[in-house]
Amino acid sequence: MPLVGDGLAVPCVDGEERAYLNLDAAASTNALGAVAERVHSFLPWYSSVHRGAGYKSRRATAAYEEARVAAMGFAGRRTDGDDLAIICRNTTEAINHLAYRLRLEPDDVVVTTVVEHHANLLPWARLCERRFVECGPDGVFDAEAVVEALERRPAPRLLAITAASNVSGWLPPIDTIIDAAHERGVQVLVDGAQLAAHGALPRSADYLAWSGHKMYAPFGSGILIGPRATFADGDPFLAGGGAVDLVDLDEVAWTDPPEREEAGSPNVIGAIALHAAIDELERIGWPSIAAHDGTLARRLRSGLANIEGIRLLGPDPDIETLPLATFTLEGVPHALVAARLSAEHAIGVRHGCFCAHPYLMRLLDLSPAEIAAYRDAVRSGDRRNVPGAVRASCGINTTLEDIDRFLRAVASIAAGEPAPVAYQQDPATGDYWPEGEVRGWASADRAVGASCARG
Ligand code: ALA
Repeated sequence: MPLVGDGLAVPCVDGEERAYLNLDAAASTNALGAVAERVHSFLPWYSSVHRGAGYKSRRATAAYEEARVAAMGFAGRRTDGDDLAIICRNTTEAINHLAYRLRLEPDDVVVTTVVEHHANLLPWARLCERRFVECGPDGVFDAEAVVEALERRPAPRLLAITAASNVSGWLPPIDTIIDAAHERGVQVLVDGAQLAAHGALPRSADYLAWSGHKMYAPFGSGILIGPRATFADGDPFLAGGGAVDLVDLDEVAWTDPPEREEAGSPNVIGAIALHAAIDELERIGWPSIAAHDGTLARRLRSGLANIEGIRLLGPDPDIETLPLATFTLEGVPHALVAARLSAEHAIGVRHGCFCAHPYLMRLLDLSPAEIAAYRDAVRSGDRRNVPGAVRASCGINTTLEDIDRFLRAVASIAAGEPAPVAYQQDPATGDYWPEGEVRGWASADRAVGASCARG
């Protein structure tokens, strides 16, 4: 299934243009055609939401609320039940929002795991205590390890856990883990950011967060699902217009949720895009998506494992994962592998630590002394040796031919194929750039295109 922008020609350092191959779907996906069409056909009707009496405002408001209903359905929730959907910017905002709304005390405990990306680590860090579930060298843990953390005292307020790793593609036994938490009276937030485009979100999670930009709706919307009761009282995460019934200079009457939680003009275009993506994924169906993903994951992971010098991070290639692979290449820095894939082969991947530094430190088996040395260097502005890996990740538009093209490119770099140009590393960012004024890679582009490994 093609996405908007597939096959665009981009300049390479040999002066040729090549069809761009995006293997960075785990970071962000392009729009599905159906998403772009829905947005395009809505644009003439664009108007303020929940703020206008005009026909267009009413129509925009209806479209926005229909998106909320679709999000509830996508999360397996009934609209007449106890839950609600808050439309926000993305998963990071959704988790920050929840962290604020749970009214955590500094000595409250949230159980989370070392596998999480930063969006599910940092919001808790500044509000309460975190208790971590560790992973093994292969980047996985079992449900018993979660149970052990849940049973330690003091009892946790929440378990905050991902449904799929953005780094290794690992799929924790999420339903078993949610059941175990519920048996111990602990509510669960599932970070669905990576799973949302690949499989059904767990029905029994108390809270769910996910983003449109990883599921073919890159228009700046995300969703937080949770019990209405959590948002019924008290001040919201964001304060402002739309969240209130009456404001005086020294008093405010907040309105009911979900509007109480959505201060400011809502992103109706983002909501409509998300709705269209949900419709399209539901039309295609999870069995078909899972079959496609499985075929890609096997070819990608086994293909990489067969290239000399490649070390795959995470679970064994034969374990079922999302269609992605994170790897290092012996003797070649991750930033240089990514730069060469881009500049010579027109293949876009991500490198670095993927907004999941603690997990990468474990997968790379770095010692505390090594981590401390990297931290000191970064603090002094030197990012040349920032640890990391390269990640190739697939979406609904990826084909086996794409995987083979990628594997050939990696194999040629691994085999020592000389680069057609010299590369320079920028110490301030750690990025490598082709030397000289190569078309499409000129020095003027560097200021805006730099820091591709930031986490
Ligand atoms: N979590 C996103 C990624 O993995 C940003 O790239």
